[in-house]
Amino acid sequence: MSEQEIKVPDLGGADEVEIIEIIASEGDTVEAEDPILTLETDKASVELPSPEAGKITKITVKVGDKVKEGDVIGMLDAAGGASGDEAPSDSAPEAEPEPQEQPAAQESKPAPKKKSGGSRTEVVKVPSLDGMENIPVIELNVSEGDTVEQEDALVTVESDKATMEIPAPASGKIGKLLVKEGDTLSEGDDLLEMIIEDDGDSADDEPEAETSSGQASETPEAKAEKPAAESASQPQGATYEPPAPGTKVHAGPAVRKLARELGADLTRVKGSGPKGRITKDDVHGYVKSQLQQAQQGGGVATGSGIPGVKLPDFSQFGEVEREGMSRMMAVTAANMQRSWLNVPHVTQFDDADITEMEDFRKAQKAAGEKRGVKMTPLPFLLKACAAALAELPQFNVSLDMERKEVVRKKYIHIGIAVDTPHGLMVPVIRDVDQKGLWELAAESAELAQKARDKQLKPAEMQGACFTITSLGGIGGTAFTPIVNTPEVAILGVSKASMKPVWDGKEFQPRLMLPLSLSYDHRAVNGADAARFTNLLTQLLGDIRTLLL
Ligand code: COA
Repeated sequence: MSEQEIKVPDLGGADEVEIIEIIASEGDTVEAEDPILTLETDKASVELPSPEAGKITKITVKVGDKVKEGDVIGMLDAAGGASGDEAPSDSAPEAEPEPQEQPAAQESKPAPKKKSGGSRTEVVKVPSLDGMENIPVIELNVSEGDTVEQEDALVTVESDKATMEIPAPASGKIGKLLVKEGDTLSEGDDLLEMIIEDDGDSADDEPEAETSSGQASETPEAKAEKPAAESASQPQGATYEPPAPGTKVHAGPAVRKLARELGADLTRVKGSGPKGRITKDDVHGYVKSQLQQAQQGGGVATGSGIPGVKLPDFSQFGEVEREGMSRMMAVTAANMQRSWLNVPHVTQFDDADITEMEDFRKAQKAAGEKRGVKMTPLPFLLKACAAALAELPQFNVSLDMERKEVVRKKYIHIGIAVDTPHGLMVPVIRDVDQKGLWELAAESAELAQKARDKQLKPAEMQGACFTITSLGGIGGTAFTPIVNTPEVAILGVSKASMKPVWDGKEFQPRLMLPLSLSYDHRAVNGADAARFTNLLTQLLGDIRTLLL
């Protein structure tokens, strides 16, 4: 084994080119000619092959680096052993056939055909392909009737080593296409007809000169410098996600450029071209589907990378009918999803012994009738939560992740989830800590009724620090409520039921109230959540402590 440098071979005159993909990894065993990385100009993407069989011991470049001929991109332990002496390391690039296969900056040369008025039709011929012959056309980048600018890609051809685009020699209109996908091309073959507008009298005076002016008069070196200069002006790394290691993207330079501009990750785009090649249409289709998915998720799925849910045709299973969502339903759905996606949720469960609380509450029945207010468990829960929020203020916060700040609230407003025929509404009771049980009973009943009657004002649904969602009047043993962001916790209350509770000597029948506290784990840690539910069970277990 002999270690040798892997160098960038002749780039057909191009000055500097960008590495867009690293194919081989350190430790990989490769055969001679196996691709190590992919280089890209704005005209061609080229694979840099291994100069010999062996083991890659080092890769010294990364995606996005610019390299030029002779640069070392890594080290190879050549498998040939003694042959290492015969073939000195820096002769490797010259020894490989690849340089010939790399596209010099080709320009197709239009040959004059006929003239009509101020424009002429010319046959664009295949330019030099650096000695390569019979290269298949894998993509037609234009259609008959298209208007193109000089340098726009006309067709893409691909050998087993390089993909290259044949650019328009001048601005004009595409006439007849003379090739189709799958055809093989060699230098000098007819490609297509182009209608080129005459811009002055030089065309009449010197038709030959016009034909070869602009492009043909450039030296290969001068042309080859363009890609490097242009690619240098492209934003580096801002929107371009390099493919995941090992993911081979099959796409031409123009498609890659488009993907970079649109911020599309080509490793996620399914190619519809030959051999799974990605076309511009595929990129547009991918971006469109991403936007649609984001909209279906109320905009919240943007950037989350979560694929949308595809709906089957339900009518194949039986009769269905469709109905538009109410605005409230659509808004609630978007809010729920936003909260679920943004907040790392954890739910802490506990049971509160409310036997005595219920005795007290029921004893208030007559008083309630006099006042015209029904005392339900909810005012006790409100009072207990207000006390717990005061004692554990880390629950009375919101997170400002943009500014990396915690917003601490000096007030205690609590939202109550109300089930209404038109959807879930959450009116807010202000300054719960400063109100008595009767006041809270009256206010919660009034707000719940307003919610059912669609009479709530926007201000009555804003400003909550915490939410209580009680399903106790309906049933269930526990649930995992979704935090009503930007609050950081929500208390779910299920149906109280008699349970045998061990008092140290015997089981006692006690009325136990199941509590489910969901919280934002970014703001609240698990120990504090257990402290919070502990405190609630103490306060509800002995409501005299609510007075303290
Ligand atoms: N366990 C056992 N019984 C309970 C209970 C509990 N946790 N909570 C209430 N009850 C009882 C009440 O005492 C009352 O019984 P009573 O008539 O014999 O006295 C009965 O259930 C009905 O109470 P309710 O009218 O629901 O009053 P409330 O003050 O407990 O609740 C609302 C008020 C607004 C919270 C409630 O009507 C509501 O809408 N709950 C649903 C909230 C919701 O949908 N949440 C889901 C969000 S995802």
